[in-house]
Amino acid sequence: MIKSSQKKRNYLICEIKRHQVAYYADDCPKISDRDYDKLVRELFSLDSELDIPRSLTEKTLGVGYKKKDEFSSVKHTIPMLSLDNAFDFNELDQFFCKVEEFCRKTNMCSPPVYCAELKLDGVAVSLIYVDGKLTTAATRGDGINGENITENVMGMQGVPYILDFRRLQKNNVKFNNQSFLEIRGEVVFLKDDFKTFNKNQEKSSEKLFANPRNAAAGSLRQLDAAVTASRPLTFFAHGAGEIQGFTDNLFGNHSIFLEFLEKIGFKPLVPRVKNMQPQAIKDFISNVLTIRKDLAVEIDGIVVKVESFELQEKMGTTVRAPRFAIAYKLPSETVVTEILGIDVQVGRFGTLTPVARLKTVSIGGVKISNATLHNEEELEKKGVKIGDKVEVRRAGDVIPEIVRTLDDRTNERVIDKKLSFSMPDFCPSCGGKTRKPKGEAARRCGAGKKCPAQFEQSFIHFVGKKAMNIDGLGAKVIKQLIDEKLILSFADIYKLNRIQLENLERFGRKSAKKLLESINKSRTSTPAKLLYSLGIRHVGVQTAKSICESIESFEELFSISSEKLSTIKDIGPVVVDSVLSFFKNTQNLKLTQELIGEIVFEEEEIKKSGVFAGKSVIFTGALKVLKRIEAQDLVQKNGGTISSTVNKNTNLCVVGEKAGSKEAAARKLGVRVITEEDFLEMIEVRK
Ligand code: IVH
Repeated sequence: MIKSSQKKRNYLICEIKRHQVAYYADDCPKISDRDYDKLVRELFSLDSELDIPRSLTEKTLGVGYKKKDEFSSVKHTIPMLSLDNAFDFNELDQFFCKVEEFCRKTNMCSPPVYCAELKLDGVAVSLIYVDGKLTTAATRGDGINGENITENVMGMQGVPYILDFRRLQKNNVKFNNQSFLEIRGEVVFLKDDFKTFNKNQEKSSEKLFANPRNAAAGSLRQLDAAVTASRPLTFFAHGAGEIQGFTDNLFGNHSIFLEFLEKIGFKPLVPRVKNMQPQAIKDFISNVLTIRKDLAVEIDGIVVKVESFELQEKMGTTVRAPRFAIAYKLPSETVVTEILGIDVQVGRFGTLTPVARLKTVSIGGVKISNATLHNEEELEKKGVKIGDKVEVRRAGDVIPEIVRTLDDRTNERVIDKKLSFSMPDFCPSCGGKTRKPKGEAARRCGAGKKCPAQFEQSFIHFVGKKAMNIDGLGAKVIKQLIDEKLILSFADIYKLNRIQLENLERFGRKSAKKLLESINKSRTSTPAKLLYSLGIRHVGVQTAKSICESIESFEELFSISSEKLSTIKDIGPVVVDSVLSFFKNTQNLKLTQELIGEIVFEEEEIKKSGVFAGKSVIFTGALKVLKRIEAQDLVQKNGGTISSTVNKNTNLCVVGEKAGSKEAAARKLGVRVITEEDFLEMIEVRK
């Protein structure tokens, strides 16, 4: 068996090399991008069967698969902008009115016509073709500078390496020998590809992605181009950047341009409509809403554009978005299902969260069988009961939540049949009495780490991404380790050995080895990450960082004074009390000392690269998708710093809802002001 697999592997390497030469050197690909991609994927899956490290195969495959330390930067000669949004037909009508008014004032063609197409929920990418050959691919970045991802898009579905200009010649389209064509579009995971991909990830205990967009962003921006090549990504073109060397009247309007793109090898962006009046555009939107679930790709809106390039050019752009286009935003997709039961989960600090168990449904390629009901008050407000038909959506397109019940509460007989639910007086995990503190929305169990659920949750927090970041140590394995009494404290994680792990159910030699490797990797960490991992109440990522920036050594925390803690920036009395009482507890102190013995501290990494490299960013107003702290963390992870007051050194001001005086101050100083949505696009992450 192994012998034949090895034979197959050698054959695949030879084949891939042969096609690489044909593709990269001879400019004459012998197979389609998709088939080439299949060969690479087949090789990598054989590798994992044969336990061959990927690095070895990459070396064998050579240049095209070289791993980089970081992406180089690409400047967009024409900025990659954002789009203004319309949330209902009224707002869309306002857009139509503005365009018409512009036409009237400038004596342009009246009435103007529009086209509309899907707004793909993916990652914006620019592709540059010189003389019809792909030379550069870049992410949007901050709109002015993006990251060079040329190697990553090579071979991707929908990205032709050589443009097929032959058909254009036949159609009598003229272009110079030195043509320059920048195509802009979206890299996405098709819904079906996403389902299969996540299923395979689960089978091989690899990271699962929350939605197709996150999967696309995570897969595209891989320093190791071979990883991107192994993911089923697809590119759809939806516009142009810089164009040179084509006869001027080649693309009279947007729809003609999209047809041109199809002719030269790009995938069609369908369904779409062209040359339409406003009412027909609205009909198209209503239609797409009804078929949204059946589309092959996830969308978050419909983009409506002025057809005529001449009118587009005359209307121009603001610094943020073009005036000739608008995104009609669609709400998160909802589905109807049934509540089978309501469970109560106990959190890290004893908070009880009601969670609805649902008849399994799929939203945007993700199976949903649970949805949070948040807390006792929310549960009462929504008035849901077991057996209800409910509408479910993914909040911020990630966490499933119940929007509303569809059951009619006015009919007494229906209510009678329902199974009522109320939050328990005793903790479902430890049996201790629960109480709902005055002024708080949630009920909690006060047993602390003695409560098995809180104990387990503290480990889940400890291994999390922002904490010690132990890959492969998920909730299930933590439960196994606790049940087997292999981990009684955080330090015990670092004392686990191969035999102990191999003896666990569903564990083999390979998985034990892999887990030990990630545990070892996590030994090297920063004081701030360790402090955050301890799970001290009110000490989040940013607070832990602030504290660690003000101390000489981690040990200083063991006897730190209230005075010193109080002088630290952004640390209030609640945090001071929480930190002091944590380290006053002799058990906590002993366990933390034991843990430090297992950790090697490295200096906090100061990122010099990333979208916000060297930029000082300020947030004001309420963010809708991210928590403020998460957004700040993303800025720092991408090379930026956070400022709390606007001054001449501030580079960017992110405004949420009900932004206050900081926004006005930023505008006055000429600081670039962006919305949360722009921010999410810059960072290419959605929660
Ligand atoms: S036109 C000036 N068309 O949406 C930008 N954008 O919210 C003009 N997007 O980053 C873009 N589908 O990458 C356009 N059919 C479509 C689109 C689309 C997705 C993305 C685009 C941009 C973001 C703006």
